[in-house]
Amino acid sequence: MALVTSTEMFKKAYAGGYAIGAFNVNNMEIVQAITEACREEKSPVILQVSKGARAYANHTYLVKLVEAAVIECPEIPIVLHLDHGPDFETCKACIDGGFTSVMIDASSKPFAENIEITRKVVEYAHDHGVVVEAELGTLAGIEDDVKVAAHAASYTRPEEVEEFVSKTGCDSLAIAIGTSHGAYKFTPEQCTRNEKGILVPPPLRFDVLEEVSKRLPGFPIVLHGSSSVPQDYVKMVNSHGGKMPDAVGIPEEQLRHAAELSVCKINIDSDLRLAMTGTIRKFFEEHPDKFDPREYLKPARANIKELVRHKLVDVLGCAGKA
Ligand code: G3H
Ligand code: 13P
Ligand code: ZN
Repeated sequence: MALVTSTEMFKKAYAGGYAIGAFNVNNMEIVQAITEACREEKSPVILQVSKGARAYANHTYLVKLVEAAVIECPEIPIVLHLDHGPDFETCKACIDGGFTSVMIDASSKPFAENIEITRKVVEYAHDHGVVVEAELGTLAGIEDDVKVAAHAASYTRPEEVEEFVSKTGCDSLAIAIGTSHGAYKFTPEQCTRNEKGILVPPPLRFDVLEEVSKRLPGFPIVLHGSSSVPQDYVKMVNSHGGKMPDAVGIPEEQLRHAAELSVCKINIDSDLRLAMTGTIRKFFEEHPDKFDPREYLKPARANIKELVRHKLVDVLGCAGKA
């Protein structure tokens, strides 16, 4: 199967009450780990590339790695998606350069400007058979010193979504309901502690999601910042020389619930980074004499694969849907 767009995937996911995993890729081991898990679990998948990934690994290397995965995993549909496209030029470069989906993220711009930039990307993308994700609302917790009151102001405003989607023609919409990028999603002050002393973040705003879905029936919604920051990996990092205090993520049950509703794409990156870093830190502490990258990348790749399998089966619900 060649690379596909997310159109059919999202239709089936919406109807079936599950979500497609969108995992960020930066190197060969991560591409292999994700796609091997998806092939074994018969799961559709979105491999996404950020501006930072293109700067790190080079556009062509990443496209060719994903094309290699398509050859190795012919049974599953794979989308190649630009994550957080910052401007028209970057989106155009990806549309011209083999991507089947792009995100234009003009969410930090005023509403009218967001519409204008998004519509320009949609026109070019659709002329080239590529689909577009746009964003409305600002994800909480991006700024280090963001305050709770500021969070409230950054949730997506449901009263804006119909106009935004009809004027831009975008194919899916990322909304802000309380998820947040990175491994430090919330300050300890924003959280409560459970009986094990683990920080529990404020619950996602399902009321906002439901209001958006009511206004956009059948329309695929996207959640960014959806890593759950597995505490086992945080512990692995911290007990092998790392220092990640108070790293906390989105509870997986809440993501599962979102997937049952209108959320068709869930973005996960930080969890994979944690699995890789924890595994490599542990390896080095246990084997200070080793220096062959294949020896430490192999267990890191294996652990990312098992983590992705867990997401497909237990969180996204997309195993067996290829
Ligand atoms: O939302 C951003 C993704 O986690 C990609 O991160 O910009 O460091 O590649 P990055
Ligand atoms: P996390 O940092 O929670 O993994 O979010 C990733 C993301 O939204 C990529 O666009
Ligand atoms: Zn994101």
